[in-house]
Amino acid sequence: MESSMERWYEAAFKRVSVRKYSGSASRDELRVLKEAAKYFSTDDVRIVVGRQEGIFNPLIGKLISGTETFAALISCEGDHDYMVGSVGEAFVLECTAMGLGTCWVGGTYNRNIANQCIRLDPETEKIRCLIAIGHYDKLPERKRNRKTIQNLTGIEEREFELLPEWQRSAVECARIAPSARNYQPWEFDVLKDSLQVACISKNFGFGGIDCGIAMLHIEIGAAHCGIYGDWQVEDRLPLFTIDYNLDT
Ligand SMILES: Cc1cc2nc3c(=O)[nH]c(=O)nc-3n(C[C@H](O)[C@H](O)[C@H](O)COP(=O)(O)O)c2cc1C
Repeated sequence: MESSMERWYEAAFKRVSVRKYSGSASRDELRVLKEAAKYFSTDDVRIVVGRQEGIFNPLIGKLISGTETFAALISCEGDHDYMVGSVGEAFVLECTAMGLGTCWVGGTYNRNIANQCIRLDPETEKIRCLIAIGHYDKLPERKRNRKTIQNLTGIEEREFELLPEWQRSAVECARIAPSARNYQPWEFDVLKDSLQVACISKNFGFGGIDCGIAMLHIEIGAAHCGIYGDWQVEDRLPLFTIDYNLDT
């Protein structure tokens, strides 16, 4: 796991959403992706990898072209959006590390085609998002138009520089996390030996997934400094606490 974290840390800074692809994943890559999907799936979130013509052709507003390879993030029984975000982003970063382009796709895919080609348990499962995956000729320019550290944490730059290295690394890594419409619907509370994430907007139904993505980025930013911890989700409140036991 430790080496995966470092691999994902490097990938997090390289990743950018790719919407114009030069081709789908090859048969060998598809096999590796399917293995990874099995490995990343949990009881709450299932990842299905496939290739399907037209999957990224929505009825209106086509944004993704040049690939038919997708990973579907399927939520199993109940609301697992934080988990969908974390597991999905780990998968995205693994694809990035493999040299493939990706884009989270929550809206601009063809739902009819997705529902036809992805077998779901209609009682318990729903598709929460797709990830487009494929080859690219040139990475799009990384704009990284993100909220400032001060905006995200309420901490002045000079004060932020005085925080422990792991906290700075965690916040900086979360700052570059992707979110639907780049809305960044989160705030980070820097506490003693912990960090808290507050989800501040539903963001058209993607707020929980966005926060799960930021949570993974916090973990990998902290792990980059050798700090590991656990998330505790407070009942009903969209708040998360990551507590690192620094005494051990
Ligand atoms: C949950 C989620 C849903 C998204 N849905 C779409 C989508 O439907 N279509 C699209 O083109 N981009 C989509 N995106 C990509 C975001 O627009 C993109 O991550 C954001 O603008 C930041 O840019 P970056 O990924 O290049 O850093 C989605 C991202 C997330 C996290």
